[in-house]
Amino acid sequence: MGAVGAGQLRGADASVSPDLPAAGLLSRLALDEPEFETRMREALTRAEKWLQATAHDALDPRVAALTGHLADAGGKRLRPLLVLLGAEFGDPWTPGVTQAAAISELVHIASLYHDDVMDGAATRHGVPSAHARWGERAAVLGGDWLLARAAQLAADLGPAAVHLNARAAGRLVAGQLRELAGPGPDEDPVTHYFHVAAGKTAALLAMSLGIGATQACAPAAAVAALTDCGEQLGIAFQIADDLLDLTSPAELTGKERGKDLLAGVQSLPVLLARESTDPADAELRDLLHAGPVPAAALPRALDLFERSQAPAETEAVMHRRLDRARTALASLPALPALPARRALLALCDYVALRTS
Ligand code: IPE
Ligand code: IPE
Ligand code: MG
Ligand code: MG
Repeated sequence: MGAVGAGQLRGADASVSPDLPAAGLLSRLALDEPEFETRMREALTRAEKWLQATAHDALDPRVAALTGHLADAGGKRLRPLLVLLGAEFGDPWTPGVTQAAAISELVHIASLYHDDVMDGAATRHGVPSAHARWGERAAVLGGDWLLARAAQLAADLGPAAVHLNARAAGRLVAGQLRELAGPGPDEDPVTHYFHVAAGKTAALLAMSLGIGATQACAPAAAVAALTDCGEQLGIAFQIADDLLDLTSPAELTGKERGKDLLAGVQSLPVLLARESTDPADAELRDLLHAGPVPAAALPRALDLFERSQAPAETEAVMHRRLDRARTALASLPALPALPARRALLALCDYVALRTS
């Protein structure tokens, strides 16, 4: 497909494909507002078309196969949904809202190309990761290319979108670099973890709600409250992701279970397990203190982890962040965006319950 210009897909056929990747997430929100739900489905369908057109928009079909690989393979489309929900606090029909939704997912997918190289992850969305299929150098360049295309779409929308996109991408990379560097000599590992989660994950969720609201010309107070909500939701989302890495089967997550333990990632659940003073956790502590867990010891480590207090402690920290996200929503005007506020509250509940 050739280059996609701003507005080219505006007014495109909005019929909902039954395999819309975001459909699963939408159905989890149990929205009892048929008109609102239809509007969201149609907007997500338009955003998906922008995403697909842009991700495959390379002249060489071999490059398009690489850059479209993860967009094709799946994903929940949480970030585009957040953009559209943010836009409900202004005029959701403002031109550029669906492109903004595509930008957030392009940045997310780009980060997955890079993240899977960093983590040595073999699978993503239930298929081989880009580097497993095309090699690390191609995967890094594929991620770079998607970031460049996100920046180009943002440029079509104007300076506010350029700024929000650049800041989120910068925070994301800084978060990943901070994870790579590990805590400083005097830094508390848990504090370090929160800095990492804020950068690598919360920045993009905050940006998604913020760019949707900004593009739709929502009042500044609503943009601020939504950005704050996205920041807290993002940290909770990363905590849930880190717990799922240890507890959820690969068939549900599309990623290998325990990959963080194999890679020696010091996630919050791992840090809490390491800090346990319960004598029953001695073997688990030894396994986790020794650095990356050897593949042969992984089933034992996962079993011991599930029997420890660490999962419940991790969930308690996550729930505190979700409460902060809900509090940020409380300052939003109830009208005209009532269904969107309810949907965001439902998303807060979903983060705690999700299995994939
Ligand atoms: C995975 O995010 C990476 C994190 C920031 C934890 P998602 O769970 O939203 O990824 P998808 O749904 O597979 O795209
Ligand atoms: C997610 O961190 C960070 C980004 C993709 C930016 P993880 O390393 O925990 O994500 P998964 O678990 O591989 O999806
Ligand atoms: Mg990873
Ligand atoms: Mg993870």
